[in-house]
Amino acid sequence: MDTNDSPTNPLTYWDYIATDQLFQLQKPLTDAHDEMQFIIVHQTFELWFKLAIYELRAAVDALDAEEIQRGVHLLKRVASILRTSLHGFEPLMTMSQQGYAEFRDALHPASGFQSSQFRVLEILLGIERVTTEGERVEERFYWENAVQAGHTFTNFMAKYHEDLVASYDNAKQRNVRALMLRLTEKATGRTGVEAYRYLLSNRDDYPLLMSLAEIGRDLQQAMLDFRLHHHKVTVFTVGEHAAGTSDAHKPGHPSCAAYLLGVIKDRSTIFPELEEALTGPAH
Ligand code: HEM
Repeated sequence: MDTNDSPTNPLTYWDYIATDQLFQLQKPLTDAHDEMQFIIVHQTFELWFKLAIYELRAAVDALDAEEIQRGVHLLKRVASILRTSLHGFEPLMTMSQQGYAEFRDALHPASGFQSSQFRVLEILLGIERVTTEGERVEERFYWENAVQAGHTFTNFMAKYHEDLVASYDNAKQRNVRALMLRLTEKATGRTGVEAYRYLLSNRDDYPLLMSLAEIGRDLQQAMLDFRLHHHKVTVFTVGEHAAGTSDAHKPGHPSCAAYLLGVIKDRSTIFPELEEALTGPAH
C-alpha cells in the first residue's frame, strides 16, 4: 500500500492534484492586472494540449493495431479536449488593447509561436515537412518557412527543433493521416484519394471507417477553430496592424494579424486525400 494512502496518512486532494506546486507556477513579470489572466490562460491551454497529445498517441497506437473502434473513441476525446480548450480564449476577449499593452513589452520576444506542444499535435495528426530547394535541398517544417531569424525563432529552434524532428521521424508512418489512409486503402483495395472516394460511395458497408473519416474531419476543424479564435483574440488585443511580441516576422507579414491569417490560409487542411475525395469530382 502507498504510504500516502495509509490510515495514519490519508491521501489529500492537494497532494494528489499537486495544487501547492501548481499555484507556484504563475509568475507575472509586471504589476499589470491582466498579466495573471494571460499566464493562467496560456498554462491551461498547454495542459489541455498535453492531454490531447497523450490521447492522440494512444489513438495512433490503436489505429496502428487496427483497433479502429478504440481509435475513433480516443480521437473523439481529442476533438472534445481541443474544443474545450477553445473556451480559454473567452476571458482574453475581455482584455482591452490598453490592458495588454501594460505588460506586452515585458514578454518580447516570447511568443505562442514557441509552443512546441501545438507543433507536436500537428505532427501526430500528420503534417508533412516540405522540401525546399535553396543552396541545398532540405526538408523543413512549415514554421521554418513562415518566419525569419529573430530571437523568437532561433530560441525556439535551439530548444525544440531536434525533438520535433525526432517526433516527426517517429510519427512518419504512425500519424492520424497516414493510418486513416492505410486502413481505408486496405479495406477498399484502392489507393489514395480513390480509397476515400470508394469509401464515401459505399459508406453503409464501412461504418467504422466512415466514423474515422468523420472524426478526422472534426479534428481538422478543431485545429482550424483554434487558429480562428486565436486570430480573433489577437485582433482584439493587439489590433489589426500592430506587430506582436515576436521578432520573427518576414517583411511580407508586417502585422501579427496578417501573419496569422496567412497561416490559417495555408494550414486549414490536414487530411488532403480525404478533402479531395469530398470536394473533388466523384467517380
Ligand atoms: C492576447 C492573446 C494572444 C496574442 C496577442 C497572441 C499573439 C500571437 C502571435 C502574434 C502569434 C504569431 C507568432 C508571431 O507573431 O511570430 C501567435 C502564435 C501562436 N500563438 Fe498566440 N497569442 C495570444 C494568445 C495565445 C494563446 C492563449 C495561446 C494558447 C496556447 C496561443 C498559442 C499560439 C500558437 C500555438 C501560435 C502558433 C500559431 C500557428 O502557427 O498557427 N496564443 N500568437
